[in-house]
Amino acid sequence: MEVVKTKSRLQQLLINRGGNPSVGFVPTMGALHKGHLSLVEAASEENDVVVVSIFVNPTQFNDKKDLERYPRDLDSDLKLLKTVKCDIVFSPEADEMYPEPDNRIFDFGHLEKVMEGKHRPGHFNGVAQIVSKLFDAVKSSKAYFGLKDFQQLAVIKALVKKMKLEVEIVPCPIIREFDGLAMSSRNRLLTVDQRNEAALIFATLNKARNLIHHKNVQELTEWVTETINKSSMLDVEYFEIVDNENLLPVNNWDEPSTKVGCIAVFCGGVRLIDNIVF
Ligand code: PAF
Repeated sequence: MEVVKTKSRLQQLLINRGGNPSVGFVPTMGALHKGHLSLVEAASEENDVVVVSIFVNPTQFNDKKDLERYPRDLDSDLKLLKTVKCDIVFSPEADEMYPEPDNRIFDFGHLEKVMEGKHRPGHFNGVAQIVSKLFDAVKSSKAYFGLKDFQQLAVIKALVKKMKLEVEIVPCPIIREFDGLAMSSRNRLLTVDQRNEAALIFATLNKARNLIHHKNVQELTEWVTETINKSSMLDVEYFEIVDNENLLPVNNWDEPSTKVGCIAVFCGGVRLIDNIVF
């Protein structure tokens, strides 16, 4: 496994491999966990070479404090990556990715106006900036993203379409802790009590799935929010049931779309997201 800091060195390594290998790319912000490793495993099953990027992208943080305390631990990330088949780690400094400010403004229409986009203004513009730069640097055939960041996946698919990029986006399942909490780099910021309580998020989403024959969309939305908010440690920022393609609100279970319930919950100062397919 080679660790490189510059785009030119990354490209050199890929050229040196010769034979036009298929490249699978896993973009991350580090603080890796089993969810990330599952993406690397999926990439290694389907490609000759696997590139993982580790870069905490400043332009996607609308909250400076969130950026400052985002967990960073390159040494343990590299140790974890050695346990799977990762060939190249691209871990640039900010200057390498942003030699000058990126002033591009992307327009993803409705996709960026709801849920995460509404509560984290500018977040998806920052994601689009860095992901387009990373795609340009790695030039992979496929890129792997976790379904936990459900809306991010929709935005990235739209980015690929808009920029006519030749990369296939591969969505990968959410990996959960033993009690159902979706794995996230942010989980390590929780205290033991908060961590235990955070399991209520998925437990509630899971119960909600069994209630769709008993409650309409509006009632179920309220039930999920109220059930989680009963915990003094949890505070729901939003819970919305949307069409999985266009993220438009679902009003009725009879609508033909696949329906996904997306949630963001504050647990202390830590913001956790999850989703469930109904
Ligand atoms: O999902 C993430 O970790 C980040 O948003 C990504 C895609 C690596 C861009 O910084």
